[in-house]
This record gives sequence, structure tokens and C-alpha cells, in this order.
Amino acid sequence: MKEISFTNTFSVFDNIEELPNDIQKLHKLAVQIQKNAHAPYSKFRVGAAILLDNKEIILGSNQENAAYPSGLCAERVALFQAASNFPEAKILKIVITATSETTGLSPAIPPCGSCRQSIAEYEIKQDSPIEIYFTGEMGKIYKSESLKNLLPLIFNKKLL
Ligand code: THU
Repeated sequence: MKEISFTNTFSVFDNIEELPNDIQKLHKLAVQIQKNAHAPYSKFRVGAAILLDNKEIILGSNQENAAYPSGLCAERVALFQAASNFPEAKILKIVITATSETTGLSPAIPPCGSCRQSIAEYEIKQDSPIEIYFTGEMGKIYKSESLKNLLPLIFNKKLL
């Protein structure tokens, strides 16, 4: 037996103003689209903005359901829309943000495990990294250069 370890590296920004201009724009759109979340159960509204290499911007918000598992996270709403409408385009960047009606200001939110697996699928498909920004209404902002940094030993098509 031997142990292996993985290193996860993030860029950390103090506030929105410190982000590159294109990311600030995506963040603004993600904040706007979170208003369209259907989140009557969690009261937690999430917005995701995706930039494609054809310059299209695709937005998504979380969509909940009375049958809870039937709902979908904002990131996957945006990802599947991007892949359905622009199957040849590469996904360059995704910015995620959230707001909660029940707790105070939301800190930066990371994508859940299922969303990480979905982002991985497209990163593998397009064979290039997707930049992921976790933002919120307060606190630090985190950037990962690639999904690989968020999910070691990932399940992928080579295992099928
Ligand atoms: N949610 C997202 O949209 N993205 C995430 O990465 C985490 C969670 C949504 C799902 C559900 O509608 C609500 O937030 C509470 O979990």
C-alpha cells in the first residue's frame, strides 16, 4: 500500500472589482438570471453564466420541483442548454453565484458534486479546460483553472 495525494490550486480574489472585465460581465448576468430561479423550497437562488468560444453567453438558474430530485442546479441548466444549442462550441468559462432568502448574504458557492461531474464531461469532450469562478454576495471569490482541479480520480468514458 502507498498513499497518493492531490493538490488543489485556486486563485482567490477579494472582490468583484478585482476580476477581469469579461468575468465581471458574466457575474452581472449570473446575478440577473438568479432572479429567474424556481426555488420555492430552498429559497436559495443560484445563477450561472457560461462563455463559449463563439462568444455566445448562456445563462441558467436553478429549477426546483415538488418532487425534489426532479429539480436541477443552475450550472447544469446552463451547461445542457449550451451543449444542446451549440454542440460544436467550446465552453471557456463558467461563473456561478447565489443568493439566499433565509440566511444573510451568500458567500461564494462552489458547484455541487453532480455539477462537477457534468462540467467534467464537457471538459473531456472538448479536450480543453473550463475556468470556473465561485462567487457570492460577500467574501472572497475563487477561481479554478480547470474542473480537473475539483474532482480527482474522476469517473470518465474511458472506464465504460
Ligand atoms: N444548487 C445549484 O443550483 N447549484 C449548486 O451548485 C448547488 C445547489 C441549487 C439546487 C437547489 O435548487 C438549491 O440550490 C439548494 O440546494
